[in-house]
Amino acid sequence: MNSQCPNCQGTTWIFNQKDGVRIGHRCPCYINAQKAKLIELADIPVRYQNCYLSNFNTGGSQSLIRVENQIREYLISYPGDRKGLLLQGPPGVGKTHLAVGIIHYLIEDKHIPCLFCDFRELLHTIRATYDHTSQLSEESVIRPILKADLLVLDELGAEKTTQWVRDTLMFILNFRYNKMLPTIITTNYPDRDDLLFSSYKDHWQDQDETLEDRIGARLRSRLHEMCMKICIDAEDYRKRKTQVAFQKGIRGKLNTRQED
Ligand SMILES: Nc1ncnc2c1ncn2[C@@H]1O[C@H](COP(=O)(O)OP(=O)(O)O)[C@@H](O)[C@H]1O
Ligand SMILES: [Mg+2]
Ligand SMILES: [Zn+2]
Repeated sequence: MNSQCPNCQGTTWIFNQKDGVRIGHRCPCYINAQKAKLIELADIPVRYQNCYLSNFNTGGSQSLIRVENQIREYLISYPGDRKGLLLQGPPGVGKTHLAVGIIHYLIEDKHIPCLFCDFRELLHTIRATYDHTSQLSEESVIRPILKADLLVLDELGAEKTTQWVRDTLMFILNFRYNKMLPTIITTNYPDRDDLLFSSYKDHWQDQDETLEDRIGARLRSRLHEMCMKICIDAEDYRKRKTQVAFQKGIRGKLNTRQED
C-alpha cells in the first residue's frame, strides 16, 4: 500500500461507475506491492535475482530452443495436471536460471506464492536444528518447504545421500505429492538414457553416476510420477559465451587486419 499513490490515495481501491453501479477494483500500486512481497518471500539467491525466462539465451541451439518451448507449454497450462518439472543437465547449462525464471513468471503472471530452496542448504539447516542450543525447530524449517504452492528444490543429488537424507527427501516429496503441490527439481545427475544419447557426455557431473545411483530407485521413481522430465543437453553457458566472445574477438581482429 502506498499512501502517496495519486490513483487511490492509499486506499488500494479504485472505483468506477458502470451503468449507474459503482464497481471497485484494486489499484495497481496494491498489486505491485503484493508481487514485490511474493518475490521477497520466494527467497531467490542474490546471484539469481535477475534470472528471467526472457533473458535465457538459447544462442540458436536446437536443444535449448526445445527446452524453452517445453517450459513455455508447461507454464501456459500451469498448474495443469499438477506435475512439477525435473530439470536434468550438466553443470552451468542454466537449470537454476530457468527454475528462477519460472518463479518470476508465476509470481508476475499468476500471483502464485513460490519458494526457492537449495537442497544442500536445507539439509544443513535441518541438521543444525538437532543441536540442543538451536533456536529453530525442525518443524519450523520444514513447514514452508512442505506447504509452498510451488517449490524449487535446487541441486538434488549434490549432497552425499545417507539414509537420513533419503528419508528426509522422501518425506518432503511424499507430502507434496499427496497434496498435489508442484515441485521443480534441478540436478546435475542424468538418467542412464541421457548419458547414452548426450552430445556432451563428458560435461555431466560424474559420468559413471546416475540420479538413481545418487538418490536410490524408490525416490527416482517417485520423481518420475510427480515431475515432467526436461533434459538440458547443452554446454556450460559461461564456456559457450567465452568461446563466442573469443571467436568474435578473433574475427574482429582479422577484419581489422583485412581493413589495414
Ligand atoms: N542460456 C542462458 N542464458 C543466459 N544466461 C545463462 C544461460 N545459461 C546459464 N546462464 C547463466 O550462467 C550462470 C550459470 O547458470 P546456472 O543456472 O547456475 O547453471 P546450472 O544450474 O545448470 O548449473 C548463471 O549466471 C546463469 O544466469
Ligand atoms: Mg544450478
Ligand atoms: Zn494506489
